[in-house]
Amino acid sequence: MLNASDFTLENPAVTSEKVAGASFSRRAMLCGAVAAIFGFIPENAIAATGVSQTKDRKIRVDLKVNKVLAKVGGVVQIPLSDGSTLALVRTALGAKGFTALNLSCTHNGVTVMEQNQTWTCPAHGSKFALNGKLINGPAQTGLMKYPVAATSSAVIIG
Ligand code: FES
Repeated sequence: MLNASDFTLENPAVTSEKVAGASFSRRAMLCGAVAAIFGFIPENAIAATGVSQTKDRKIRVDLKVNKVLAKVGGVVQIPLSDGSTLALVRTALGAKGFTALNLSCTHNGVTVMEQNQTWTCPAHGSKFALNGKLINGPAQTGLMKYPVAATSSAVIIG
């Protein structure tokens, strides 16, 4: 899992509810900004709404408007400007029951798709559990995870 220090925002002045123009990057892999462009989200994905950037450059997902996250197995996706996608998954009940993943396959970077509560890579068939754990390759590792902290009203990623 990445550390919070791996996340940096390129525009610290952005604190509004709008995501467009705000940036969310990490040194390890992502260098882009969060974009309010949902056009490339896979067909069966639910695009997160109520996404904003905190003053300390993290992503805040409002749970009141993302009701799908109230149930275990619920997923919302947040596209990043570098072309990758972040998925927030409800993996268990309670404040610790959230996992944030980057949906770039760890084999060769193709975006995995949700299929029957698993993530499947359309390129070479790697399969991952909804929490990102590797089920079968050719990928050798699970999906990359982001740090998550949750309250009753929001999940903070980063
Ligand atoms: S890129 Fe996903 S299995 Fe090869």
